[in-house]
Amino acid sequence: MDERIIVRLKRYQDDSYPLIIGERVFPRIAEELTRNPLGDSYAIIADSNVARLYGENFKRMMRDKNLRAFLLSFPAGEKSKTVKVWQSLIEKMLKSGLGRDSCVIALGGGVTGDLAGFVSASYLRGIPFIQVPTSLLAMLDASIGGKVGIDLPSGKNLIGAFFQPKAVYIDLTFLETLPKIHLLNGMAEAVKSGLIADRALFAMIEKKGNECLKLNLEILRKVIKRALLVKAGVVEQDEMETLGLRKILNYGHTIGHSLEALSGYQLLHGFAVSLGMRASARISVEMGFLKEIDAQRQNKVLDSLGFPGKIPGRLCKIIKTSSGKTRFFDYLTQDKKVRSGQLEMVLLSEIGRVKRFDNSWTVPVSKQMIEMGLKEILE
Ligand SMILES: NC(=O)c1ccc[n+]([C@@H]2O[C@H](COP(=O)([O-])OP(=O)(O)OC[C@H]3O[C@@H](n4cnc5c(N)ncnc54)[C@H](O)[C@@H]3O)[C@@H](O)[C@H]2O)c1
Ligand SMILES: [Zn+2]
Repeated sequence: MDERIIVRLKRYQDDSYPLIIGERVFPRIAEELTRNPLGDSYAIIADSNVARLYGENFKRMMRDKNLRAFLLSFPAGEKSKTVKVWQSLIEKMLKSGLGRDSCVIALGGGVTGDLAGFVSASYLRGIPFIQVPTSLLAMLDASIGGKVGIDLPSGKNLIGAFFQPKAVYIDLTFLETLPKIHLLNGMAEAVKSGLIADRALFAMIEKKGNECLKLNLEILRKVIKRALLVKAGVVEQDEMETLGLRKILNYGHTIGHSLEALSGYQLLHGFAVSLGMRASARISVEMGFLKEIDAQRQNKVLDSLGFPGKIPGRLCKIIKTSSGKTRFFDYLTQDKKVRSGQLEMVLLSEIGRVKRFDNSWTVPVSKQMIEMGLKEILE
């Protein structure tokens, strides 16, 4: 006779967390942690660039408040989102005697947030972490939502977790040292947020996007805040992407990811997404969902920010070869859901609104349609 025991784990857990945005947020973090500690010691994880610019200073501010803090750095760049770097950070933390009562502080761009977030999700089965994003892309996108992870040689973000930070501290003045190309890179995600869910944000970028690139912090603050509200709104409703709504954040990303992969990750994420959005808008028009004038409006904003309208020459050449095109389509279908044999994509019905199709936030798109979209961005 079988016996049955139930492990009862029904629970309600409040994982809400604040996003603090301002111009002098960074120096106040240590003070905040003395008032509301998240552990008895802190591992500040930063890449080599950010560690050099802000790491030592941060460690000093923490120690000045009698907080036990260690600075751990790793070589800057996507190439560090690996098992090897993850393991070396974990080992350094063990060596420093950081226990289950410690906390991780991710100080840096999206690479640091994803990597340090995954370190914290996995260290001694999980310790809390806070995000201190320093790139625009991390401030308005990567630092919230709880997706953390690392890459494998076979693809990006293949190892990871949903692990929400305890707080996100966004200090706009970090942007003063961010290379201009990365400022532009982050703007692609802001445009995306406007396109999928916030017409007013899109209009703001249409009118004042160039002010962001000139580092007008007041405009940047507004853009970041609205983009965060879009992302937070989606994540609150569909944290684990079980309902499909979270997929709308992937507008421009399906094609964008394939371009990134095909370029060997030489093409920056925002640039790849901007090309993906141009192709997706074309497909939205061709399928009769979006007005041509709205697609033009999207592309004009991307043009005026300075995003190239076409895939860069060398990558273009690769895609035009038959083996390059096959690889492009292989990347597209690799880990994506396919419905009735067709690829699923997020498309627009108007500026600020995603096309709802068959009770879903994605639309099945034929290979011919994708070719049509691709034509838009090929030389
Ligand atoms: N988890 C998510 O939801 C999510 C969302 C979007 C992107 N991402 C991930 O984010 C990563 C890309 O993020 P990214 O573009 O921020 O890249 P990144 O972290 O590599 O930062 C870009 C460059 O800017 C430098 N940098 C960052 N802040 C700086 C500052 N204030 N001053 C000077 N230099 C600075 C970095 O050292 C790096 O060289 C990708 O790995 C992507 O997968 C994650
Ligand atoms: Zn993105």
